[in-house]
Amino acid sequence: MSSETYAVRFVLDGQIHQARGERRTTTVLDYLREKLQRTGTKEGCAEGDCGACVVLVGSLDASATRIEWKPMNSCMQMLPSLDGKAVKTIESLKRPDGSLHPAQAAMVRCHGSQCGFCTPGFVMSIAALAEHNEAPTRGEINDALAGNLCRCTGYRPIVEATREACAASADARSLQDPRELALLKEIARPTRPTYSLDGELVIQPVVRTRKGSEFVSPSSSAELAAYLADHPEATLLAGSTEFGLAVNKRYERPAFIAYVGGVVELSRVVETANAWHIGAAVPLDRVMELVKGTLPDFHEVLRRFGSPPIRATATLGGNIANGSPIGDSMPCLIALGATLVLKRRNAKRKDETRRVALEAFYTGQKRTVLQPGEFIETIECPKPGVRQFRAHKISKRFDQDISATCAAMSWRDDGGVLRDVRLAYNGLTPSPARAPKIEAVLEGKRPADVSASALDAAIAASFTPRDGLRATWAYRSLVARNLVLGFVQPELRAEALHAEGA
Ligand SMILES: Cc1cc2nc3c(=O)[nH]c(=O)nc-3n(C[C@H](O)[C@H](O)[C@H](O)COP(=O)(O)OP(=O)(O)OC[C@H]3O[C@@H](n4cnc5c(N)ncnc54)[C@H](O)[C@@H]3O)c2cc1C
Ligand code: FES
Ligand code: FES
Repeated sequence: MSSETYAVRFVLDGQIHQARGERRTTTVLDYLREKLQRTGTKEGCAEGDCGACVVLVGSLDASATRIEWKPMNSCMQMLPSLDGKAVKTIESLKRPDGSLHPAQAAMVRCHGSQCGFCTPGFVMSIAALAEHNEAPTRGEINDALAGNLCRCTGYRPIVEATREACAASADARSLQDPRELALLKEIARPTRPTYSLDGELVIQPVVRTRKGSEFVSPSSSAELAAYLADHPEATLLAGSTEFGLAVNKRYERPAFIAYVGGVVELSRVVETANAWHIGAAVPLDRVMELVKGTLPDFHEVLRRFGSPPIRATATLGGNIANGSPIGDSMPCLIALGATLVLKRRNAKRKDETRRVALEAFYTGQKRTVLQPGEFIETIECPKPGVRQFRAHKISKRFDQDISATCAAMSWRDDGGVLRDVRLAYNGLTPSPARAPKIEAVLEGKRPADVSASALDAAIAASFTPRDGLRATWAYRSLVARNLVLGFVQPELRAEALHAEGA
């Protein structure tokens, strides 16, 4: 065993559980199955796609009077990030009197299970939905189950079971337990930094191995900056939906891991009249709620991002820093004119921040302007105000798929003329980017005067043709043009969307 006495503490079935001697990259799934023999939770893909590993992870809600339970892919999450949280597995759902949770009972009654491999994951997703939604629409059910795949049953009985489980009494559906709430408060991670008598920040690792590798979970931005100044080679860990792949598929084992999920400044949202200031560690399901009323297209792009367990953990900062060419939040944020606040501790050990427009953040594929030891603290996203905003994601499968391309555009309507156009795409360049030549075609035009041939010429002049696994260049360039036409000429939108199937 490579670790010493540090313990990961979490609440499980009404008790505080302490995991000692685990590695910093032990996954929650492996720990549950191999150490706790909770073998109801399955491994299908180990990459966040199938949902067989879904468990519920609980944190105190903002009022600290309830536990907010969210479905998560345990295959992707590192055990030390559970410190100070609560977990429920499929085994947790059975009541003390032996009766089943409504999600389990309904799956039996509706014949929602055949080989049963996917069933525990489905039941956990259904239980999470049922706790707060007694009458979900078909769309809400589809969305809640988008991260769970079944190869035998077909989805109709599972959808029926979901409806039935949600219709059970509120008491039967509730996942709240006052004992667990009290225990969760007892093990809550500190929200303020600790200082030594000399006034130095003390960062107590969650895990440290005998060889000196460690997993830390700072509580403040200053602690994170200090830690990264001392360990510029450390890997930042946020929602782990990319990092989990590096561990499971590429067997990467970084020596120093700094988890940002507990950093207060990175976890908060400040809303002003003109902007949202979103902490980099805010998960995407929270960003969805923020933009829902004002930016329905951005909300829809995020709703089609992965699945509920992915969105419950994946963060906005992680999506941006990851810098994938097909990252979905970036076209929307670039079109809105978002700015990043970057932070680091300098050579004089003073914390400094700088602001960088998101459109200037990338220097190539998966390359950014981030300096060693520097991190994204906040994303400042202007509200659209009087500006129009449209966005749409094109993917092979509608849900739980990554983009062939996603386009987003904002502009000011100046008496029927397009002004101050900002257009951005993913999937067409090594990193998501603005498209100035196409913007120039649109600037100052009446929507009806925007011609497909002018857009085609600007698209040809803007991008290097590239066929990819997800789409040919012919297809990508066609939808790149049709999306813009659909944005400015809504009557063409239906036709443009139809072209997705071309
Ligand atoms: C099943 C599945 C579906 C997915 N679907 C989509 C999709 O539809 N669209 C899409 O765009 N992506 C998708 N992804 C990719 C991934 O979920 C996103 O890129 C996600 O936003 C990454 O965020 P995270 O918090 O999980 O990052 P992590 O995995 O924790 O980290 C990713 C990278 O960002 C760095 N990082 C994290 N936070 C910071 C910070 N504050 N400052 C500097 N660096 C930081 C980390 O060091 C790491 O290099 C999917 C992934 C999976 C597994
Ligand atoms: S094992 Fe498939 S999502 Fe985790
Ligand atoms: S019941 Fe067999 S995979 Fe779903």
